[in-house]
Amino acid sequence: MTRSVLFVCLGNICRSPTAEAVFRGLADGRGLHIDSAGTSGWHDGGRSDPRASAEALRRGYDMSMIRSRQVCEADFDRFDLIIAMDSQNLADLQAVRPKDSDARLELFLDYAPEFRVGDVPDPYFEDNFETVFDMIETASKGLLDRL
Ligand code: 4NP
Repeated sequence: MTRSVLFVCLGNICRSPTAEAVFRGLADGRGLHIDSAGTSGWHDGGRSDPRASAEALRRGYDMSMIRSRQVCEADFDRFDLIIAMDSQNLADLQAVRPKDSDARLELFLDYAPEFRVGDVPDPYFEDNFETVFDMIETASKGLLDRL
């Protein structure tokens, strides 16, 4: 049974906090523990990217309480399911995963096969927040259907 889900990207200010907020909104009432983190600590303690927060508000989600943090070894104990936003994030997670961890590691867009891509693109540089939100909303619904 999946009781806890951690979303992971590189900076934890664009894609994974968006996934955290969207998934939390859609999973309302299911009692899941939902969080996000970055493979880097570049933005530790920082707020989500204002472009993401603004798009979230337009769609009815709240990212204002989320602060960036780096993924840590304990996350592999605390979470049943760890979801990477792209294949580089997945490889970075596999490299630091403790051998005795039971956490499942998955790629987010496996839950949204209709996009026919494996990676959620990085909107920090591409500035394509609407596309990224569309992908994240679709994958979140796909994941919720499977839990
Ligand atoms: P994220 O996007 O991994 O979706 O949070 C990025 C945020 C910041 C940087 C790169 C990607 N950066 O280079 O600072």
